[in-house]
Amino acid sequence: MRRFLAHPFWQGAIVVVGSYVVLKYVIGYVLPVIGVASAPVPSSVILEYMLIVLVGTLLYMSADEERWRNFRAPIRAAMVDRHRKTLRGILMVAFPAMAGWLAYQNVKPSYAAPATLRSIHPAPPNQITFRGVSMELTGLENPLRAEGSMEEHLQVGKEVYVRNCVPCHGDLLDGQGHYAHAFNPVPADFTSSGALPQLTESFVFWRIAKGGPGLPREGTPWDSAMPAWEPILEENEIWAAILYLYEQSGYTPRTWEEEGEGGHE
Ligand code: HEC
Repeated sequence: MRRFLAHPFWQGAIVVVGSYVVLKYVIGYVLPVIGVASAPVPSSVILEYMLIVLVGTLLYMSADEERWRNFRAPIRAAMVDRHRKTLRGILMVAFPAMAGWLAYQNVKPSYAAPATLRSIHPAPPNQITFRGVSMELTGLENPLRAEGSMEEHLQVGKEVYVRNCVPCHGDLLDGQGHYAHAFNPVPADFTSSGALPQLTESFVFWRIAKGGPGLPREGTPWDSAMPAWEPILEENEIWAAILYLYEQSGYTPRTWEEEGEGGHE
């Protein structure tokens, strides 16, 4: 062990590996947990520090002729020594495998939440065009509440929902459809008290008509999978689906009087 620690190669290796562990795990995880530092060290900074440590170690090792020779000896032996064939074989597999793993880690898509906050209910526009017709959203009520038979509207809404929305928003309207797990953000849970009761029907109309693509900037950067239904559903089909959502979930929509008090969160 003493001989091992006295050897320049292993001293250098310990310094490099030790610096990495300190930067990545001690500063990165332990200090934030005990409240001394505020966040993990960014990987680009770790890379920079590690290059400095590496260059420093090599400079130190090569400053003295004998130390340099000792430092290189194991590297040289591993590369050319006849008795080191097995080690050479292992390294020849391990190095490409490690390079491959690192490259894979780098290109692998990440599903972690982005640093920016996404507004779940961004402010809707005052006005939209639906199939070329301009529509004032402010103050707009669901026209189907005042006309025709509620029973028929709910039937239409049910058909629209079952045909188009179930795969994502689920049979139970809880956002747990079969495809739901593939999406980030996840489909809206209509049984949650944080969604439908907080929204005016005109807001819901806008979200259904324009979907994820129609979200303003604060609705990004998470890409919403919510489709824009404007090209597929008629205006009255959307209003009927909205009636169905409120009827099934048991919530009442936010009214425009309430809207005046607070606005969307
Ligand atoms: C491909 C999956 C998918 C389908 C199909 C889908 N949605 Fe969505 N929907 C989402 C996702 C994901 C969100 C959450 C992200 C967002 O707000 O855009 C969402 C959000 C919503 C919201 C916004 C709720 C809120 O709290 O702001 C409404 C309303 C909505 N969907 C209604 C519908 C209706 C009605 C249908 C059927 C006509 C439908 N969706 C079909 C994926 C889908």
